[in-house]
Amino acid sequence: MNILIVYCHPSENSYTFQVLNQVKNILMEQNCSLEVSDLYANNFQSNLTENEYRREGAANTELPISKDVVEEHRKIENADRIIFIYPVWWSDCPAMMKGWFDRVYSVGYAYGQKADLPKMKIIKYGAIICTAGHANEFLNEIGIAQSMQSVMLDDRLGKRYEQKEMLILGGTLEIENVREKHKEQIKKLLVNLINCCG
Ligand SMILES: Cc1cc2nc3c(=O)[nH]c(=O)nc-3n(C[C@H](O)[C@H](O)[C@H](O)COP(=O)(O)O)c2cc1C
Repeated sequence: MNILIVYCHPSENSYTFQVLNQVKNILMEQNCSLEVSDLYANNFQSNLTENEYRREGAANTELPISKDVVEEHRKIENADRIIFIYPVWWSDCPAMMKGWFDRVYSVGYAYGQKADLPKMKIIKYGAIICTAGHANEFLNEIGIAQSMQSVMLDDRLGKRYEQKEMLILGGTLEIENVREKHKEQIKKLLVNLINCCG
């Protein structure tokens, strides 16, 4: 099974990097084949250029797609499952991850106009794993957890994924209180991800 991980964090001395490694280790034990789009390591260009804006804004699919975006499309087409891993920053993903959606979800590929059907294949299972400083209870109480779920699952993953799951690993400000619980939650999500959908 081919799994694409889209990962966004600037530092290897981070909890999110530990989460990435845990995910990779479990998937490799299950003989999955992994491809990681490490956005910071690849210095991913997150801002839409003017030419890209012209392509998206006017839905002009005749205009060319940037080479780095074509490469991300290739990774998506090769994937059976996609996992996004990032820290919550200001109640959303980091700007570089947001830029991945802005640019890689190009018109004619991830969404269509009028009768044009998008070319992107339907991915069987998409997972969002994000770390958050606040506790899950607090993020639920203030409605931010629900808002992040709507944006990530309903809009950004949307109908492009048959099954979707979002795991908010909250409470990282007091990491030792949550580390073991997080490990169990990650294992459970990956069992679902591997076993789902036939
Ligand atoms: C710029 C920035 C903004 C942040 N915004 C939030 C936030 O809105 N909600 C939250 O729960 N935690 C927030 N945090 C805390 C991170 O989510 C937390 O540091 C991360 O999940 C785990 O730490 P790591 O950087 O070691 O991976 C923020 C951290 C930074 C650096």
